[in-house]
Amino acid sequence: MSQTLEAGATARARAHSNIALVKYWGKNDVVLNTPAVGSISVTLDALFTDTRVTFRSGLAADEFWLSGCRQEATKVARVLDLVRQARGTHLFAVVESANNFPTGAGLASSASGFAALAVAASGAAGLTLTDRQLSILARHGSGSAARSIFGGYAQMHAGSAADGSDSYAVQLLTGADWPLAVVVVITELGAKTITSTVGMGASAASSPFYPAWLATAPGDLADMRAAIAARDFVRLGELSEYNCLKLHALMLTTRPALIYWNAATVAAMHAVRDLRASGVPAYFTIDAGPQLKVLCLPGDVPLVQEALSNVAGVHEVRPSALGPSAYRLD
Ligand code: ADP
Ligand code: DP6
Ligand code: CO
Repeated sequence: MSQTLEAGATARARAHSNIALVKYWGKNDVVLNTPAVGSISVTLDALFTDTRVTFRSGLAADEFWLSGCRQEATKVARVLDLVRQARGTHLFAVVESANNFPTGAGLASSASGFAALAVAASGAAGLTLTDRQLSILARHGSGSAARSIFGGYAQMHAGSAADGSDSYAVQLLTGADWPLAVVVVITELGAKTITSTVGMGASAASSPFYPAWLATAPGDLADMRAAIAARDFVRLGELSEYNCLKLHALMLTTRPALIYWNAATVAAMHAVRDLRASGVPAYFTIDAGPQLKVLCLPGDVPLVQEALSNVAGVHEVRPSALGPSAYRLD
């Protein structure tokens, strides 16, 4: 590696979004962005972010462009600061990114976005980081991004170290180890009014259910790990739906209430339960937004897609396989 980082140093990366089966909501430390609970997710092939990072001379600050529009860069700069520190440079960077799905809408754009940024920024700086270091770097932008460094099934450890060094994700299985399908049901294209960061702070501060959320997380994580190890789809699905509804109970009891659902969200939840009653093993999960992710077996995708397309208010139904780890494009 040369002594000084050359202006113009650039790299591009792709990272896929993920959906948590056992969810993260609440922080231990807002500066380190360490989660209060561990989480388990699957990475989605159909939803991804492409990001280019270019270090330049003559910039007064980092610039963040999303689909050609200049955005606020505070969180992006937090990740770039760590890269600059590790590389020993003062050069600012231009970040050019695009998501192939709606941003800030409950489809985990912060997960794919900051995982892609971690890989592209460290690559442009000429750093060779381990997956664990990349996961920690991505976590500083968004907690869910720590999981999107990995394909297939990932678990995020909450950790307890004062410096956040044991708060990172690991891969449990690849998608090839146990192929599942996720049908993404989009009921709203616009961004949520309360971001995940703000929403989870409000839940921790005001919901009487928050202590129960913290107390019951370790049991859900252990059960989900066992379901994945046993390749037990029914157990995985039932537990995912239960943990999702527990999260939304926490959101609904936050003051003021966080109601991320719309009418189509509820109709789609019923459609999934109807499918199940008719013998198709399908289970929903929902993040901080009005979109459903329907977990099902790959052979059942056409049935699930057809059923959810017929729900009033559904804009788009996008089937997905499990996706790969984050990677360099060039
Ligand atoms: P989502 O449900 O989409 O994850 P969040 O409220 O968690 O919504 O995150 C939205 C945040 O993620 C915003 O601050 C936005 O700037 C950031 N973000 C979205 N896409 C990207 C991207 N491609 N690169 C960096 N940051 C991104
Ligand atoms: C409901 O990772 O978006 O999607 O760390 O503040 O950026 P920040 O929050 P974020 O929260 C994700 C919340 C969730 C559940 C999950 O993905 O685990
Ligand atoms: Co997010």
